[in-house]
Amino acid sequence: METGAPKRRENKKSLRVKVISLGNAEVGKSCIIKRYCEKRFVPKYLATIGIDYGVTKVQVRDREIKVNIFDMAGHPFFYEVRNEFYKDSQGVLLVYDVGLRESFDALDSWLGEMKQEMGSQANMDSIVFVVCANKVDLTKRRVVDEGEGRLWAESRGFHYFETSAQSGEGINEMFQAFFSSITDMCENGGKRPVSEVSVGFTKEQADTIRRIRNSKDSWDMLGVKPGATREEVNKAYRKLAVLLHPDKCVAPGSEDAFKAVVNARTSLLKNIK
Ligand code: GTP
Ligand code: MG
Repeated sequence: METGAPKRRENKKSLRVKVISLGNAEVGKSCIIKRYCEKRFVPKYLATIGIDYGVTKVQVRDREIKVNIFDMAGHPFFYEVRNEFYKDSQGVLLVYDVGLRESFDALDSWLGEMKQEMGSQANMDSIVFVVCANKVDLTKRRVVDEGEGRLWAESRGFHYFETSAQSGEGINEMFQAFFSSITDMCENGGKRPVSEVSVGFTKEQADTIRRIRNSKDSWDMLGVKPGATREEVNKAYRKLAVLLHPDKCVAPGSEDAFKAVVNARTSLLKNIK
């Protein structure tokens, strides 16, 4: 029995982890993985059929990590194939295309699908999430800026990286941070270390800033119905002012959101008797 001792010591340093990629079809999930594992870029779109599976080994500090990568198909057609693969993941790459707003807006529903499929196993605190704002090389068609993407990610305790599978920008840094966080989490008894999730602002603040940025008019910005009374406008304003006042809120974009709310209130009150 003693003869197995050196092997056991080696095993203690090695780690097996499972990671998955999520995001709409064509955002670049497979290309990001290919860029990292094979150091190349394929410009032609080859849709993933169901799932692609690969294994890679990485070194994090004194540990060798064997990473099982499940690259999911983003197309809704493959839902039945995907849903089997959510369980037991330690890491998730959440990818969107910075030139397609709907792919950014879809991140919430990807998280929703994952939670639903994991059912009672859905302990999101035991999973490292990295958000990849991909295709940053295509600067002219960009519609989701860094502030907006970072806010969404960091308010949830997720990492945020700007990436381009085409140029390689951000890819190695992103994977290094991803694997190192997963290792930290495993060494921390399977819980994501707290320092990563405390960003100094709440998800409510981040979501409100996002809603304000995307609002279509002043009524919408204050969250009141068109034709609301002065009292209703002032009540909504006070609530937002408390939430977003730059003295109280350090979330990126809070100052602009606060100013926008002040302007919206002023312009609405001008027209309400
Ligand atoms: P599904 O497998 O269908 O879910 O798509 P996917 O997210 O895996 O997308 P894939 O990696 O196959 O890339 C889709 C298309 O976008 C391909 O034509 C890629 O060449 C292109 N692409 C991926 N990443 C980048 C990038 O960073 N920059 C540019 N310019 N094109 C990219
Ligand atoms: Mg793919």
